[in-house]
Amino acid sequence: MPYNFAQSQALFTRAQRSIAAGVNSGIRKMEAPVPLYFARGSGPHLWDVDGNHYLDFQLGQGALLYGHAPAGMAEAIGAQAKLGTHWAAQCELEIEVAERIQKMIPSAELVRFNNSATEVVLAAFRLARAHTGRKLILRFEGHYHGWADEGLVGFANPAASWGDDENPARTHPSKGVISEVLDQFVVVRWNDVAHLRRRVDEYRGQIAAIVFEPVLCNTCCLEPVEGLMATIRELCDRDGMLMISDETITGFRFGAACAQGYYGYKPDLTILGKAIGGGTPFAALAGTRAAMAKILSGEVIHAGTLNANPLCLAASKWCLDEVLALGAAHPARSQELGRALMAGLVALAREHAVPLHPQGPGLIFHAVMLKPGAVEGPIRDYRDYVRRHDAARWTHLRRCLLEEGVRAIERGLWSISLAHTAPDIEEALKRAAVAFRRHAATWQAPA
Ligand SMILES: Cc1ncc(COP(=O)(O)O)c(C=O)c1O
Repeated sequence: MPYNFAQSQALFTRAQRSIAAGVNSGIRKMEAPVPLYFARGSGPHLWDVDGNHYLDFQLGQGALLYGHAPAGMAEAIGAQAKLGTHWAAQCELEIEVAERIQKMIPSAELVRFNNSATEVVLAAFRLARAHTGRKLILRFEGHYHGWADEGLVGFANPAASWGDDENPARTHPSKGVISEVLDQFVVVRWNDVAHLRRRVDEYRGQIAAIVFEPVLCNTCCLEPVEGLMATIRELCDRDGMLMISDETITGFRFGAACAQGYYGYKPDLTILGKAIGGGTPFAALAGTRAAMAKILSGEVIHAGTLNANPLCLAASKWCLDEVLALGAAHPARSQELGRALMAGLVALAREHAVPLHPQGPGLIFHAVMLKPGAVEGPIRDYRDYVRRHDAARWTHLRRCLLEEGVRAIERGLWSISLAHTAPDIEEALKRAAVAFRRHAATWQAPA
């Protein structure tokens, strides 16, 4: 029997009377048939208030690299809570966490802590502008850098306002943003090295930084094409721009040295979020001593009452030690499990004639659902994704999966945690088989 969500529905109805739109982050409304209310989690398992059990690949939007409620982290937070929950002052823990990051990421010569990656993005942009005395930030279409005004330019643009391929428009998905914000950005299509070079040359001398998700995970799951990272590094060195790697999703998921270690490049600044705190509100700006200089001199203001909160630090220290202890086994193990899951989904898709093509490096991937008539082959960039991905059909399949207890991120991203095991993947595929059967039998393309 497909799951029933009556208790979640009742709570959501109640929530809408006290919480604006019933949720505390707009994206949570995407969960169909209703935003779910959870009772508890353990490792890769999650239980909602209706008693439904899920194998979780949503993982707190990717923050739970270590799975739900790992005992060691709970103990570390509990022990710290007894000593103090917040000081807005220094403690040795913050040095211990900073030293671990230095050890893990070669470009992280110095760090500063915040509570969310959105804040860190703002700090990185401010630093880059102060460092170079320039105004513009070059960013890629479809990349997400937090929900602040400056993080969303060129994200989720509707096709009607894309602009031509050579001059992607500076649009913003939110109302309430002044046009001057848009003027601070140059938008470039992802994964087109020649186009990137032309855009940099067009604005030469005006660009402070190039910012990117090394694997674009907020639109599909798009690894960088061969040569892209090297080109960004080369252009930044040539023109004195800072290279900012937004590793909010990829950080520690792709190994101790993050995506920059996995793909072999060295940025000037790195944005760390999600897995660095394992589900606590923790984030960090890491960078070379040269790139962080204006924070050292005090010319750039970076602040926050809850920065380096001891509860988050205790959690983070535990998380980083987990990654360090795995050594070379990480990310190889989660990659192997993810690839097995991708292969299983491909087999189910073929069996049920569903045009599903998982794409990504395994430890994280996106379930691309091709539109009728769309050509097969890897998706390359945001425009390609919007043109070929059948979002309505994916949403239908995602709901069937959810009703059988398999939970991926609403838009189609799946992450593997360090807590998933081979039997978990087998169980997920067994449940997915039922979901695919029901999807194939009930999906009706809109007329
Ligand atoms: C690449 C990237 N950057 C920045 C952010 C913002 O992170 P936060 O939600 O912690 O502010 C996110 C969040 O999903 C992200 O995926």
